[in-house]
Amino acid sequence: MGVVGSLLTSPFCPKPAHCPTWTKLGYMCGIVGYVGKKDTIAVLMGGLKRQEYRGYDSAGIAILTEQGTIETAKKAGKLQALVDLLQTSPVSPGHTGIGHTRWATHGGPTDVNAHPHLGDGGKLALIHNGIIENFAEIKAELLAKGYEFESETDTAVAAVMLGDVYAQVGDLREAMRLVVNRLEGAFTLLAVHTDAPHLIVAARHNSPLVIGLGEGENFLGSDVAAFVEYTQRAAAVGQNQVVAITPDAVEVTDFDGNPVAIEEYEIAWDASASDKGGWSSFMAKEITENPDAVANTVRGRVVDGLVEVPELTELGDDILNGISRIILVACGTASYAGMVGAYAIEQWARIPVEVQLSHEFRYRDPVITPETLVISISQSGETMDTLMAVKYAREQGARTISVCNTQGATIPRESDAVVYTHAGPEVAVASTKAFVAQITALYLIGLHIARSKKTVDEKELRRLATDLQALPAKVTKVLETGEKIAQLAKWMSDTPSVLFLGRHVGYPIALEGALKLKELAYIHAEGFAAGELKHGPIALIDHGQPVFVIVPSPRGSALIHSKVVSNIQEIRARGARVIAIAEQGDAAVLPYADEVIQIPLADPMFEPILAVVPLQIFAMELADAKGLDVDQPRNLAKSVTVE
Ligand code: F6R
Repeated sequence: MGVVGSLLTSPFCPKPAHCPTWTKLGYMCGIVGYVGKKDTIAVLMGGLKRQEYRGYDSAGIAILTEQGTIETAKKAGKLQALVDLLQTSPVSPGHTGIGHTRWATHGGPTDVNAHPHLGDGGKLALIHNGIIENFAEIKAELLAKGYEFESETDTAVAAVMLGDVYAQVGDLREAMRLVVNRLEGAFTLLAVHTDAPHLIVAARHNSPLVIGLGEGENFLGSDVAAFVEYTQRAAAVGQNQVVAITPDAVEVTDFDGNPVAIEEYEIAWDASASDKGGWSSFMAKEITENPDAVANTVRGRVVDGLVEVPELTELGDDILNGISRIILVACGTASYAGMVGAYAIEQWARIPVEVQLSHEFRYRDPVITPETLVISISQSGETMDTLMAVKYAREQGARTISVCNTQGATIPRESDAVVYTHAGPEVAVASTKAFVAQITALYLIGLHIARSKKTVDEKELRRLATDLQALPAKVTKVLETGEKIAQLAKWMSDTPSVLFLGRHVGYPIALEGALKLKELAYIHAEGFAAGELKHGPIALIDHGQPVFVIVPSPRGSALIHSKVVSNIQEIRARGARVIAIAEQGDAAVLPYADEVIQIPLADPMFEPILAVVPLQIFAMELADAKGLDVDQPRNLAKSVTVE
């Protein structure tokens, strides 16, 4: 067997698609590629800026220069460090280039480990999003052939391997195809070579990649944000596909080299939607976009006063009416949206609903039948845990619907139907407006099924639809409490811990309030179901302990309301400092709470959308008061493509 053959054949895993480790995958980085006449460095840096949410511990670019060489610039730290480097050590201009912003896995966040990595004696540059699981084995083979590695990354191994294979076959597309058939794990790869000055070759396996289509120019990105400034035309790249772009052509094949037709779509938002637009942070901007997120998600889905979700209509009433059980799968904030949705769907549609964390779901050997509906919830549509849960559910014969905020993402592509949330691009790493949009979408799904199954009478369905449509204006009203909450956050900026209590649909909001505070302000925070208090957590209450209480509407269950008011009295008696989030006119809490944040009246089921907004503002303001970066909290990245 020749050199190429020995590098391309693994006894363990002949093809990634058939690989048993297919599911243990990936991580998150931002990728951009450009071929065309524009200032390539500016296009790449703009694309990285818009994708910095995907990873921000180092960044780099490679340019195919007009002199026919490759020049790179890469730097550990946030993107600004690369911007500064380019000022002091500029890279020569060119019309083809690739760029990368990294969230480190193999190898720490250093200049050396930053992408791009070089191969073929510096004539080839490569960037990568994912984890190459069999890199050690390939590295050993390459070391045996005399190659040396400065960087510890799996990406450096892929770059050298691609260079090695290219030297054998002399064609970058073919070399890429041969290499990806040997790699295991998760990867989006982009490569350029000095022999083909107007070509970028890319491959996608278990990591996102989209094509931006222009006139005399083309783009690649992890997300359409990479190129939305220049074109609204995009095409998704499917699993196990190789893409080659030149200024005038886009060619896609599968990993066996068979041509694949691209499916073009229009990006539904423009570049300004992913700019800060004068706000101090993306988070501040996105919190103020909460009303639009709700309105845009409802838009077009209330017809003649009744909820009708066209995507579910396409699925068919027979299927929906035959559902005997619903499982909502999601992670983090999206799972709390799921918890709210579970209360609503179960109450309205009279179907048992449960919520499972995606990463727990398939390992518990769940009972799934063809009458089981699995609804996944994911802002990014790329969360690996959730993707794997959806694939597993389908394999077991369940129907699958995804609730997703990202057009053309992987999870919707793997589902039977998708109900898009129209929150617009969410750039701040911690989720805010996407959360309220997810809850809204779940309300719509619940009301659609209830209508189809006739489990709620028409008059009530109309009332609920009208109340849902009235929510955006009420969210705008809640935003007016922002100044008061900012004041509270300043007072509490040195508190070591904050607790959150809620009941019924307020319980997931307590969990979300605590998560936001942990993520943004790095403070110990916990959310509890108020009824659990006496079963343990009340021991945490000491003098001055801040506790947010989400008070259920007295117009819902008067019993639950009075129980939560009793909880407030119990913790107050033990020294807690109570901040109540209660509906306007709820006089019962006034004597006991230290602070009351009032929210407008809505159907009690819809209160989470209103109650969460003050908690989002509180977490943001407290983090801000501590001088922290609210858009890019430490250790986090937005799209968690790690299992
Ligand atoms: C928290 C947050 C995360 C995400 C979770 C799921 O602010 O953003 O907890 O909700 O990682 O992400 P998606 O919705 O993209 O699947």
